[in-house]
Amino acid sequence: MNTAVIPGSFDPITNGHLDIIRRASAMYDEVIVLSACNSAKNYLLTDEKRLLLIKEAIKDIPNARAESFGGMLADYVAEHNFPVLVKGVRDEKDFTYEQNMAFYNSELCSRKYGKSVETVFLPSNPSLCFVSSSLVRTLFANGAEYSDLIPCPDLFNSFLNK
Ligand code: PNS
Repeated sequence: MNTAVIPGSFDPITNGHLDIIRRASAMYDEVIVLSACNSAKNYLLTDEKRLLLIKEAIKDIPNARAESFGGMLADYVAEHNFPVLVKGVRDEKDFTYEQNMAFYNSELCSRKYGKSVETVFLPSNPSLCFVSSSLVRTLFANGAEYSDLIPCPDLFNSFLNK
């Protein structure tokens, strides 16, 4: 089976993420949306709630499923023999960051496990290039409207007691 892993923080999942997930699901037999759990990071949402939002957002994509993982991404892909990561890229800044992450994950996988993992970049839909999880968090923190930017605004609001 041709599987792609789409990793990220998804704090929260946005319409931009969902567009990448849909497009990847048309390219691969199976897509795993992997919610990263970095205890060193200050997330707005708990690991559990970020995962629930992803599950709700992708429920109509038959070949997509969501998982969360608390360790290093390279450990996850090597353990499961997943050879491909997919990341959306909005602009040059994203590209520079993601290129570095691609190299990092590939080197770690190769040096620790002798396995290869490739990162495939998909350009963001131009109409969604301005959408980011951090924009949603900023809008939320400032009492501004964000429900058109995320797939499950009601669930997100319920998690934040709004
Ligand atoms: O786009 P994001 O939210 O920063 O992506 C998170 C992730 C884990 C996919 C990215 O930071 C990455 O590829 N990191 C490599 C190092 C790693 O595995 N960290 C795990 C804890 S976040």
